[in-house]
Amino acid sequence: MTQTEQKPAANDTPLVPIEKIVSLCKRRGFVYPNSEIYGGVSGIYDFGPLGVELRNNIRRYWWWSMVQTHDNVVGIEGANITHPRVWEASGHVENFVDRLVECKKCRRRFRIDHLPAENLEQRKCPVCGGELTTKPRVFNLLMETYLGVVEGDRMKTYLRGEACQNIYLDYDNVLKSSRMQIPFGICQIGKAYRNEVTPGNFLFRQREFEQWDLQFFVHPGEMQKWFDYWKQYRYDWYMSIINHKDRIHFREHGSDELAHYAKQAFDIEYQTILGWQEWEGIHWRQDWDLSRHSEYSGQDLSYTDPITKERYIPWIVETSGGVDRTFLNLLLDAYEEEPDPAGKEPRTVLRLHPMLAPVKVAVLPLQKNKEELVTTAKDIHKKLQRLMVSQYDDVQNIGRRYRRQDEIGTPYCVTIDFQTLDDHTVTVRERDHMTQERITISELPMYLLDRVTWN
Ligand code: GAP
Repeated sequence: MTQTEQKPAANDTPLVPIEKIVSLCKRRGFVYPNSEIYGGVSGIYDFGPLGVELRNNIRRYWWWSMVQTHDNVVGIEGANITHPRVWEASGHVENFVDRLVECKKCRRRFRIDHLPAENLEQRKCPVCGGELTTKPRVFNLLMETYLGVVEGDRMKTYLRGEACQNIYLDYDNVLKSSRMQIPFGICQIGKAYRNEVTPGNFLFRQREFEQWDLQFFVHPGEMQKWFDYWKQYRYDWYMSIINHKDRIHFREHGSDELAHYAKQAFDIEYQTILGWQEWEGIHWRQDWDLSRHSEYSGQDLSYTDPITKERYIPWIVETSGGVDRTFLNLLLDAYEEEPDPAGKEPRTVLRLHPMLAPVKVAVLPLQKNKEELVTTAKDIHKKLQRLMVSQYDDVQNIGRRYRRQDEIGTPYCVTIDFQTLDDHTVTVRERDHMTQERITISELPMYLLDRVTWN
């Protein structure tokens, strides 16, 4: 789907056009097109100062809730390059392909799994109505790279097409080094690379992106129980960070979509201007991955139960989602333009969850030409900076400074005025309701920490 096609909103809050987010991201330093001075590279992006903060907060919340709050889950960070045999064992060399047809008239290419059924049947281009080629061309999505410098001795391998493979490769090492017993899980956040033939829709489909995975290893008899547990846990996790609770649901995969080893699979989908789209997949991987890597590597990856002595290849529940898709969905979920109560230009506000917002507090002296106000404000800002991301701003009038912070999702603005100099109190203004509260400077750190952190 192109960026300009729009689906009608399912409820009365309008769905936000992607272009608004692209523009905000560039203007305020969340995301930039990669290599822009050379004309850019399709499907690859860089993250700017605010983008890095938001991204780190999103990652931290995932890591905290998946790894640090589960006694039976640990984390790893694997390399982006692996032995090439990994991708033969995983099936990617053979099967990780997109099938494309081309319009003979306008020369546009379409993935056949993305074409509406009638266009496919009638071999008709959905854009110009021209005739589509009959035989699809097959493209492998793995990105090739070479290890070594001497021609002839160079080894062809791949940038990882999915991050989770490292978890299977390190499974045995983790088992032995961290005294885990089944059931247990391994988590990872890391980059994946795919030569997507149709990258687009900003961060939605990229060629370099980041995934978060849990691979949870279980006894076959407990597979259903753990599948149900993680499915619900992941759904609740997404629910905890979005505003539009009616824009998320499960979609169960039909029997024609399931891998041969999978009894069930669910996507957690989120509704945006692009329609309902996958955000994360919950997969029943059975013993497929460890069996294949046992077979291809020659290493026995079976598990012996320390009590019953039963020996088996563990089955796996996978939860696999995208950091970039989360970043995009959260911006689409949070972005709102609302009429200014004072009747001036509309207010743009990012209603991000305070714990995820890139800047937690802005410290604003009422006037920048009053030295005592500026000194007190800078002093408060410096103290808050040790605890959270704080911005100091004294440029333009206070109303404009509030607007600048609303637009990047800063949940609290602290104003230092003449009363502060008398009674050591400040005004705290909250982003969503624009309510104001007067509290003492000594109360401020705890007041803010209580509201912007999750643990
Ligand atoms: N290990 C399973 C796996 O990789 P996937 O459905 O291909 O499954 C998991 O990817 C998640 O990664 C998706 O739900 C999506 O959030 C994200 N993702 C996949 N391809 C992407 C792309 N080209 N750009 C951005 N995110 C992507």
